[in-house]
Amino acid sequence: MTDRSPADGPAVRLRDASIGYDDVPIVTRVDLTVQRGEAVAVLGSNGSGKTTLARGMLGLATVLGGEVELLGAPVGRLRERGRVGYVPQRHTVSGAVPATVREVVSVGRLARRGLFRRLGAADRVAVGEAVAAVGLADRMEEPVASLSGGQQRRVLVARALAAQPELLVMDEPTAGVDAASQQALAEVLARVSAAGTTLLVVTHETGPLSGVLTRAVVVDQGHIRYDGPLTGAEPATGHGDHHCGPGEEPVRAGYRLDQPTVSTRPVRLGGGR
Ligand SMILES: Nc1ncnc2c1ncn2[C@@H]1O[C@H](COP(=O)(O)OP(=O)(O)OP(=O)(O)O)[C@@H](O)[C@H]1O
Ligand SMILES: [Mg+2]
Repeated sequence: MTDRSPADGPAVRLRDASIGYDDVPIVTRVDLTVQRGEAVAVLGSNGSGKTTLARGMLGLATVLGGEVELLGAPVGRLRERGRVGYVPQRHTVSGAVPATVREVVSVGRLARRGLFRRLGAADRVAVGEAVAAVGLADRMEEPVASLSGGQQRRVLVARALAAQPELLVMDEPTAGVDAASQQALAEVLARVSAAGTTLLVVTHETGPLSGVLTRAVVVDQGHIRYDGPLTGAEPATGHGDHHCGPGEEPVRAGYRLDQPTVSTRPVRLGGGR
């Protein structure tokens, strides 16, 4: 985006924010500011409130108190939804609608363009690049329902990438995804991050993304227990019980900060800013 101005404010700003469902707060009185271009891991054990925090930012959980702003706009008031990409946790693509990989990823472009606008050549290129980035170029015309759970998650990552958002929120994008694909995702995220996209990634294993994510926020019982360099984030307890969906690999315990890092060198990018 070239129309960004300082008046837009940080990518994310929560001030004394409480977020929950109905009138029950899950995340309580959180302060968090994520500047443009930062790459932040959201860590914490199962049930600590990571997803609720992410959903609150996106207007998908209820803000019960305080303030939540995204790209300078109060939550839910951002006019161009395509400026924010979201990969939800656990969701695979519904098999109810027979859609191909190309069609599902193209929806990411519609979010950016506005519905009913025909997709043009640039959109098709962005869709192709996003699908290639997640290693599914050869599955482009296949029904998404015929892919494995991990591959379907990669389709959702591609859908978010295709929109070339300014802020990309991903909830456990590597869960159930094999090691080679995790590495590929890390490289993609390194590219979009180098191009200025703000990343907020909920994850149980920082190993694959440790070369990309530099700051960590650890959520513990609805509070932020740690906010600082990723390398200083203590392993949280209790995520050995991470529940795996069908086809997911078991997640090894511990934040694996000792893994080889991926390159963060700027590379030609689809992110377009
Ligand atoms: N839709 C919902 N309605 C009511 N309560 C919910 C809802 N979603 C989550 N919760 C509750 O909020 C708490 C935090 O859940 P959340 O999904 O945010 O945790 P998490 O840190 O993302 O966990 P995980 O690592 O297992 O994904 C849990 O106690 C959960 O039961
Ligand atoms: Mg979660």
